[in-house]
Amino acid sequence: MHHGKSSLLFGLLTDDDETLKVCDIFDQQEKNVSNSGAGVRSVFESNWHRWLADKKLPEIYQCASAELSSKNTGTNYRLFSIDGGHTAQETEADMMLADRALHKKGMMIIDDYFDAAFPGVSEGVNRFLNNQNTWRPLMYGFNKMFLVRSNALAEYRQAFNDDSFLELCSGRRYVLYTQQFFATEFVTVRQSGRAQDVLRSARRKIARSPVMPVLEKSGIKKIYGMLIRPRE
Ligand SMILES: C[S@@+](CC[C@H](N)C(=O)[O-])C[C@H]1O[C@@H](n2cnc3c(N)ncnc32)[C@H](O)[C@@H]1O
Repeated sequence: MHHGKSSLLFGLLTDDDETLKVCDIFDQQEKNVSNSGAGVRSVFESNWHRWLADKKLPEIYQCASAELSSKNTGTNYRLFSIDGGHTAQETEADMMLADRALHKKGMMIIDDYFDAAFPGVSEGVNRFLNNQNTWRPLMYGFNKMFLVRSNALAEYRQAFNDDSFLELCSGRRYVLYTQQFFATEFVTVRQSGRAQDVLRSARRKIARSPVMPVLEKSGIKKIYGMLIRPRE
C-alpha cells in the first residue's frame, strides 16, 4: 500500500455499495523480504483523509498478504491490485489469492512486471500463467499488467475500440501496440515522444507508398532498419 497512491484511485472507483480492502505490513518491515517500498500507516491514512475526505477509510489488513485468505478478502470483487511483496513466491501467491477473490469478469492488476529492479514479479506472473488455463494477459501500460479470465477477454477488448478511449489515447499521445503474448492478443500502451511521432508518420507514408506492394512481394520487410507495419 505504501503511501496509497493506487489506493486513492481505487477509492475514487469504489461505488457506495462496494467495499475497498487494502493490505500492507506497515511497521513489520522485517517481513518485507523484497524491499518493495515501506508503507507507513499514518501517512497512508492522512493522504486518504486529505484527498478523499468524504469517503470512509478502506478496511485495512495490517499483515503480510500471505496471512490472508478469501475469508478476509471476500469473493466477488471486480478489481484486485497487486503491489506488495515482489518475490516470485509472493507474486504468485497474491495472484492465487486474487483468483479466489475476483468474480468471473474481475481483473487483476500487477505492478512492476517489466521492472528490471524486481525480476521476481515477472517470474511469479509467468509461473502463475503457466500453471493454469483461465487467466490471460490483456494489456500492459503505466507499469501495470492487466489480466482477465479468458472468457471475459472479448468483452474487455471492445474497450480498445471505444471512441472515447481512442480519443483519450490520441490526446495524451498514448500508442497501442498489439502483440502475441502467452498465446493471446495483448495490447501494450506507450506514450510516444516527438521523435516517435515523426517515425510513425514516416512509417505510415512508406506503408502507403506505391513501392510497398512491390517490396512486400520481394520479401523486403525493412527499409533503413525501420519495421514496415501493416497500414493503420
Ligand atoms: C511498492 S509499495 C506499494 C505502493 C502502492 N501501490 C502505492 O501506490 O502507494 C509496496 C508495499 O508493499 C508492502 N509489502 C511488502 N511486502 C509485503 C507483503 N508480503 N505483504 C503485504 N505488504 C507487503 C510494503 O510495506 C510497501 O508499503
